[in-house]
Amino acid sequence: MEPLTAPRVLIGSEQISDRVAEIAREIVEEGYDRLILLGILKGSIHFLSDLARALPGDVRIALMRAESYGDAHQSSGEVRISLAPTLPLEGEDVLIVEDIIDSGLTLKRLQEELAVKRPKRLRTAALLRKPEAAVHQAEAHFVGFEIEPVYVVGYGLDSGERYRHLPYVGVLD
Ligand code: PRP
Repeated sequence: MEPLTAPRVLIGSEQISDRVAEIAREIVEEGYDRLILLGILKGSIHFLSDLARALPGDVRIALMRAESYGDAHQSSGEVRISLAPTLPLEGEDVLIVEDIIDSGLTLKRLQEELAVKRPKRLRTAALLRKPEAAVHQAEAHFVGFEIEPVYVVGYGLDSGERYRHLPYVGVLD
């Protein structure tokens, strides 16, 4: 088996934690009575965990699983939702928590699917967004970093399920 190469650092762990703290402040400033953070597995694991711990007040965590990339570096064009939200969302203030918006397809599908559950408010926080790659229009209210259309790994993002555990966002050269 080939040894793994360490990805080149694109966004370091300190830069990420500073930005997550800023996003938490933006969310608090916009206000909420009680909030459901809806983490989208698997990529959002670290962002969800860090953001949740930076938010005060009545905050609950729910999870969903959405997958479109599998082991490939390009979207399959189909989003497989294999886990329904793990809390009831009707009448709730819901914040979708995503690691990345690439083509926008996953977020668009999620927003359509979740609107049917009649939340009081449905917003999205994404750590990363590739504006140049966007094909599908899907609105994100809080975005950590706008990045170039390069394949990124780390801080939840994978390549063939590897690199999710890295504390930084990196590029495989
Ligand atoms: C990744 C990522 C987003 C989506 C973004 O999920 O977590 O959900 O792709 O891409 P898009 O904007 O082109 O739809 P993936 O399908 O790789 O599943 P994973 O989160 O389990 O890695």
